[in-house]
Amino acid sequence: MIDGFTEEEKRGFYKAIYSRRDVRSHFTLKPIEDDILLKILHAAHHAPSVGFSQPWNFILIRDIETKKKIKESFEDEKNRSSQLVEEPKKSKYLSFKLEGILESPVNLCVTYDPTKFGPFVIGRSRIPEAGLYSVCCAIQNLWLSARTEGVGLGWVSILSNETLKESLSLPEHVIPVAYLCLGYVDDFAEKPDLETIGWLPRLSLRDVVYFEKWNDKENEDWNSIQDMIKDNLDYA
Ligand SMILES: Cc1cc2nc3c(=O)[nH]c(=O)nc-3n(C[C@H](O)[C@H](O)[C@H](O)COP(=O)(O)O)c2cc1C
Repeated sequence: MIDGFTEEEKRGFYKAIYSRRDVRSHFTLKPIEDDILLKILHAAHHAPSVGFSQPWNFILIRDIETKKKIKESFEDEKNRSSQLVEEPKKSKYLSFKLEGILESPVNLCVTYDPTKFGPFVIGRSRIPEAGLYSVCCAIQNLWLSARTEGVGLGWVSILSNETLKESLSLPEHVIPVAYLCLGYVDDFAEKPDLETIGWLPRLSLRDVVYFEKWNDKENEDWNSIQDMIKDNLDYA
């Protein structure tokens, strides 16, 4: 007999998934207790990884000078990327709050080290990106664990990797994958901020599920689930 989940445990699992949010505001001043931070880091460290290579490292950051440097990089990159979009979207984009670097008590950089347990890693020979995918699995674990503990997390990718490497003294071969802002929050929004402000809608499952071949949305071997998908029930 496998060790299954009780109905209550299942509810908790899906609650974490559907109520997780990317958080950029609503951070409170309450520090994250070390035991909670430890739980979150352990959850991240128990993610799957290609060939069990565990190619991640987690750099915890509190130093205000480091945070200020990263924030500067964010401002530069935000302005630079705004040149890529025309008005009126440009002004809209510039008005969005897209980071909480200084307001969040803990910043965390998750890195990828392709040399760990290398050079031969099972499963990475033909698809070298599998190493990076593993780090993303760790980040998702971290995100869900944080949500479960009531800790908000915001991912900031409007940054220069050069600045990150320099500010955090990363060796040349180590790649920064995510810069995250963590802290207790007084609210988890019901929907993604970018959905609420009308930047993009959530696609329906019908838009993203194909049967057997790319773009095939109708296939009679899959009738029953196709009909269920068409009903478009809200699982959140
Ligand atoms: C790889 C990655 C990079 C992201 N970078 C940013 C960012 O720079 N700034 C930001 O405000 N949100 C960032 N986000 C958060 C997304 O905007 C957010 O996940 C999405 O709008 C859906 O909202 P939700 O996470 O609350 O469900 C990033 C998310 C991912 C997965």
